[in-house]
Amino acid sequence: MKKDLLSIQDITKDEILALIDRGLEIKADKRRTDMPLKGHTLGLLFEKPSTRTRVSFETAMFRLGGNTIFMNKQDTQLSKNETVKDTARVLSRFLDILVVRTFSQEMLEKMARWADIPVVNALTDMYHPCQILSDAMTLKEKLGTLEGIKVAWVGDGNNVAHSWINLASKLGFRLVLACPPAYFPSEEVLMHAGKNVEVTTDPTEAVKDADAINVDVWTSMGQEKEREQRLKDFAGYQLNRSLVDMAKPDVIVMHCLPAHVGEEISEEVFEGPHSVVFDQAENKMHLHQALLEAMLL
Ligand code: CP
Ligand code: NVA
Repeated sequence: MKKDLLSIQDITKDEILALIDRGLEIKADKRRTDMPLKGHTLGLLFEKPSTRTRVSFETAMFRLGGNTIFMNKQDTQLSKNETVKDTARVLSRFLDILVVRTFSQEMLEKMARWADIPVVNALTDMYHPCQILSDAMTLKEKLGTLEGIKVAWVGDGNNVAHSWINLASKLGFRLVLACPPAYFPSEEVLMHAGKNVEVTTDPTEAVKDADAINVDVWTSMGQEKEREQRLKDFAGYQLNRSLVDMAKPDVIVMHCLPAHVGEEISEEVFEGPHSVVFDQAENKMHLHQALLEAMLL
């Protein structure tokens, strides 16, 4: 049976650990010349903008010897009301794997239900599993281990936060999220979270003695109309030096990017010695190679 990756719930702890190790191995092998996915075609169907996810998947597929077709949803017949069901069945005749960035998780699930090929979530309003897999690789690369660590999340209980909750629940590390009361993660996600996941409204509680601190934008794609309100509601949740100073002395600061420097993160912290955000972005390309290998070979 084909295997999809619609959320972190679709993979096991062992599969996650294997992907992380393979991603690190691929990163170390600068001279890779095999082309294991020669003759394979990856489709990228995107309904929201992307820099990192798109380019890292395209480069990953290129490095594996395969081909990629990028589709802006607006340029496909989906924009003229062709159904998801028919689109999935047609694309399955051309492609070997389909990576989708869209708004609703339900649309993605429908695509996966009707596609005969693996479907991968490249961000929905609900989850961003590929991001979190490469972020887990970054944690292992920078901290040396995923065991016994404390990870903090400061800001919106959004799609990226949901995938962090899923990951921490699978792997068992401590995750403390600090979110304004009206921006807690979804009840449904929290219902399935492990006891190692806590939510608070107090950023100092989250970052205290943390090994890694994560932030993301306060206004995600699709929420632009709420921006002014959100700027007010998230006051006090900026990751700045005084918060970073409460974490472990060698804490790493992570951001999936794109960043709104001066909002969720101060420039001093973004550009400072704890920030690993560009290594984190690079790791998407390595982890996506590991993922494509695992799903197609
Ligand atoms: N982190 C991330 O998904 O970035 P893009 O929106 O640029 O793909
Ligand atoms: N939470 C952000 C992540 C972007 C990669 C968004 O959904 O816009």
